Amino acid sequence: MSEQIQRKKRILSGIQPTGTFTLGNYVGAVRNWGALQEEYECLYMIANLHALTVRQEPAALRRQTREAAAMVLASGIDPQKSTVFIQSHVPAHAELSWVLSCNTQFGELSRMTQFKDKSAKHSDNVNAGLFTYPALMAADILVYNADLVPVGVDQKQHLELTRNIAQRFNNLYSPTFTLPEPYIAKTGAKIMSLQEPEKKMSKSDTNVNSFILMTDDPDTILRKCKRAVTDSEGTVRAGDDKPGVTNLMSIYSVLTGKDFAAIEAEFAGQGYGVFKEAVAGSIIDTFRPIQQEYTRILADKDYLDGILSEGAAKASHMANRMVNKVYKKVGMLQL
Ligand code: TYM
Repeated sequence: MSEQIQRKKRILSGIQPTGTFTLGNYVGAVRNWGALQEEYECLYMIANLHALTVRQEPAALRRQTREAAAMVLASGIDPQKSTVFIQSHVPAHAELSWVLSCNTQFGELSRMTQFKDKSAKHSDNVNAGLFTYPALMAADILVYNADLVPVGVDQKQHLELTRNIAQRFNNLYSPTFTLPEPYIAKTGAKIMSLQEPEKKMSKSDTNVNSFILMTDDPDTILRKCKRAVTDSEGTVRAGDDKPGVTNLMSIYSVLTGKDFAAIEAEFAGQGYGVFKEAVAGSIIDTFRPIQQEYTRILADKDYLDGILSEGAAKASHMANRMVNKVYKKVGMLQL
């Protein structure tokens, strides 16, 4: 009987180095990245080209790019198992992005809610990159023929557009790209602001009490949890009418592995104070070892840069092959 060699399914995901990661980034994305690396061939990228769509201070962006890579590694991404790299170190992303932009319609990009939100927020800098951002994200994914993309809910629309672009290209030229599936966890895929629980938790929020950063110390985490907006009912119960409490329950559920029924039972008859302290405790316990590892990795620049160089070489090798293939298909002269 002939031996069947099956390629492991491939995963690609990314995160912008626009500041310290939030609890939302961790629960919605990075935490799942680590869990998936046993079963899949994983590529994880720091999306520094994407960060340019909003004005950045160059020195800060450089520093935050290393910090982001260190945080990804500290969060349990094993460089022996996964390829970790910086987006700008693999020029094939930008190359494929151009070809894909020429196969993406103005109307499609105009419908992206992130573009609408960000152009309203940065009305003084509605640049072309902000508009074509989803074509670059499609290139990030399609350049590796990724099967699965673990993201939070806010990236779902970009994933759908990626699939449409891939399908269109495949129909127009010939089968080239795998259509990627989003991987969105049932719980925690949209962690909400602690101050306005109808809004997504975001590091760009002007109210620092609305988010928890992965570098926050225990006192800060406890304080922010205690200040989290809830309601006047006083019962730990999930429901559409209780966005603040439900959000805290989601966080606690993901970090402790307890389901909502177990959490409701655990805090039955107790007020929000006890519950909020328990939520804070689960976050502090989760982040403590990550923070220690983060500090250690950041202090060892040679180690970190070594991983990133290796990651870039591995990723470039894969990505260049795809760009060559695509260039051939669309009629770029090759000598
Ligand atoms: P970014 O940097 O905004 O966020 C990184 C990841 O964190 C998730 N996330 C959240 N999940 C749950 N609750 C929240 N409050 C929350 N906030 C953020 C995001 O959904 C994301 O998964 N465009 C991407 C980066 C990117 C990318 C890619 C992702 C570039 N190329 C290719 C996947 C594949 C972004 O800006 O993510």
